[in-house]
Amino acid sequence: MYTSKISGLGVYVPDNVVTNEDLSKMMDTSDEWIQERTGIKERRWIKPDSGDTASSMGAKAAEKAIANAGIDKKDIDLIIFATLSPDYYFPGGGVLVQKLLGLDTVGALDIRNQCTGFVYGLSVADQFVKTGMYKNVLVVGGELHSKGLDKTTRGRTVAVLFGDGAGAAVVSRSDDQNRGILSTHLHSQGEYAEALTVKHPSMTKWVPEVVADLDNLTYYPFMDGQLVFKHAIVRFSEAIQEGLQANNLTREDIDMFIPHQANLRISQYVQKKFGLSENQIHNNIQKYGNTTAASIPLALTEAVELGKIKKGDLVVIAAFGSGFTWGSVVMRW
Ligand code: COA
Repeated sequence: MYTSKISGLGVYVPDNVVTNEDLSKMMDTSDEWIQERTGIKERRWIKPDSGDTASSMGAKAAEKAIANAGIDKKDIDLIIFATLSPDYYFPGGGVLVQKLLGLDTVGALDIRNQCTGFVYGLSVADQFVKTGMYKNVLVVGGELHSKGLDKTTRGRTVAVLFGDGAGAAVVSRSDDQNRGILSTHLHSQGEYAEALTVKHPSMTKWVPEVVADLDNLTYYPFMDGQLVFKHAIVRFSEAIQEGLQANNLTREDIDMFIPHQANLRISQYVQKKFGLSENQIHNNIQKYGNTTAASIPLALTEAVELGKIKKGDLVVIAAFGSGFTWGSVVMRW
């Protein structure tokens, strides 16, 4: 088996900052409510005429990740693209990233695991690199939430949470046996699929039926927030524990924990449970909201750029989200 590591990271967020104050002009909400419940101060939402999409933002992040890895685009062997806000119903956004990057006809795989999408993507990339099939796999998470949210008081519980943006990582074969991705673990529990969902349009109810029944709002995200919260804190903790145990490590070994940025309260609960100090966790949901498949690369890249992650550090990533799905990645940086 070969060793795999993250060799490059890159992010892209739209310039347009939307503060909680801005939201309070669109719906009955307040900076105080949003910060107290979620930690979010602002998020990025594309300007509607910007032309940005999940795949175009993903491609911009990917360009940076490839440059950061110090490789050429033609060295990418496979694209993995995670999003819950695709440009098209089909085809998936992976092929659009391939086109935008001008890559050769490499494979493009789409991941539909929402907030856990990047963890699933890293896990798939890790397998391809470890088995020797590919040398460089591009993992991209891109999200355009702002066009699909109900920005009225009716949709405020969900609308205040989500932001647009993208992040990417290059997962590469490495000669260094002592560093790299140590383990990944993936989980799902479909009995809660409807607890966090956009149900339609889909093949259970296509556009004409949705249009005929617009009051049902099934085209906006639905979330049972408290149920999601309760499951998230349990599954985050399990995922971390499982990753540590698989590597004969304990919580004392964690140098940096990068949680999917779902809610600052969820991250803080997990931080406390594992006895992690402020220096052992990185959150940036305050600036970007929940960017779903993009949130982990956005937080990981920032932590690296701030010098909070150093060579040899044990980095633990965990995510939980719609599906429900959850998982972890343990890496020696
Ligand atoms: N602004 C102001 N008030 C709001 C509001 C908003 N944006 N959204 C909801 N409210 C109101 C509700 O109407 C309700 O009012 P009421 O008491 O008069 O009925 C009150 O605030 C409490 O609502 P509730 O939904 O019970 O709040 P909560 O404490 O559960 O917090 C979340 C809501 C969404 C912040 C919380 O449930 C959560 O974070 N869940 C997990 C979400 C998540 O992580 N999702 C992504 C998964 S990856």
